[in-house]
Amino acid sequence: MAAHPGAQAGAELRTGSSALLSLRGITKRFGAVEALKGVDLDVGAGEVVALLGDNGAGKSTLIKVIAGAHAPSGGSMTFDDQTLRKFDPRHARDIGIETIYQDLALAENLDVGSNMFLGREIRQRRLGLPMLDRARMREEAAQVLEQLDVHIPDLKRPVGELSGGQRQAVAVARAVYWQAKLVIMDEPTAAVGVGEHEAILQLITRLAERGVAVILITHTMADVWRVADRIAVLTRGAKALEGAPDELGEDAVVRSMLFGRQKA
Ligand SMILES: Nc1ncnc2c1ncn2[C@@H]1O[C@H](COP(=O)(O)OP(=O)(O)OP(=O)(O)O)[C@@H](O)[C@H]1O
Ligand SMILES: [Mg+2]
Repeated sequence: MAAHPGAQAGAELRTGSSALLSLRGITKRFGAVEALKGVDLDVGAGEVVALLGDNGAGKSTLIKVIAGAHAPSGGSMTFDDQTLRKFDPRHARDIGIETIYQDLALAENLDVGSNMFLGREIRQRRLGLPMLDRARMREEAAQVLEQLDVHIPDLKRPVGELSGGQRQAVAVARAVYWQAKLVIMDEPTAAVGVGEHEAILQLITRLAERGVAVILITHTMADVWRVADRIAVLTRGAKALEGAPDELGEDAVVRSMLFGRQKA
């Protein structure tokens, strides 16, 4: 599926599109600031897309639109063949978009199991149970972590006592458990140790192997070449470059991050 930026601009409905997520002409204004200037992006199931750009380029704003935290000022978004009309974080999670922000939004004083069910304790799988079943939640958490090949020695410890990488793993496990179709990660490897950094990259690969789409924001080029199928570079709110890492080459990517759209 080749991406032709702008080819479908103006199209409201894209039935039959094979992309899981399609953004068309997304704009976002904050008063006088135009943070996004008509961004097109497609992400397929099982695909890892690295979203790159200098500070202030609009990366976080773009993922907040996808995650329902910001309503766009213009443009359209389809997910799983449905056009989104409601931009709301809870709705985004309900349809399978899970976002792992840098602060992770884990509850520090609760254990891993409780964190996996945070805010969703009684819905669906807990239906009819009047009380929280912490042992059961811990068992479910242990199973998902095992599937992901993540080892956390004591699941009863409060998440606040876990390392940065283990916390990332809990957040990823939560996304897997709730069957996210798209997982968005904003700089997941910032501020973690070498071993954990590696573990997070492996987790990203495992998510993709399970058919989950991943959007990864990072400033670490080596990670991009390790895990990304495609790169999209934002410069001052506009997409400046897009393509497979090896086709683009690191020089062109870095240049476009600094200077924007270049002549081919
Ligand atoms: N809530 C807001 N209100 C006003 N302006 C905002 C808001 N959020 C972002 N902006 C502005 O939008 C632009 C894009 O910001 P954004 O946070 O998306 O950049 P970024 O690419 O994530 O940068 P970084 O790499 O530093 O995290 C910046 O000029 C920023 O100041
Ligand atoms: Mg940001």
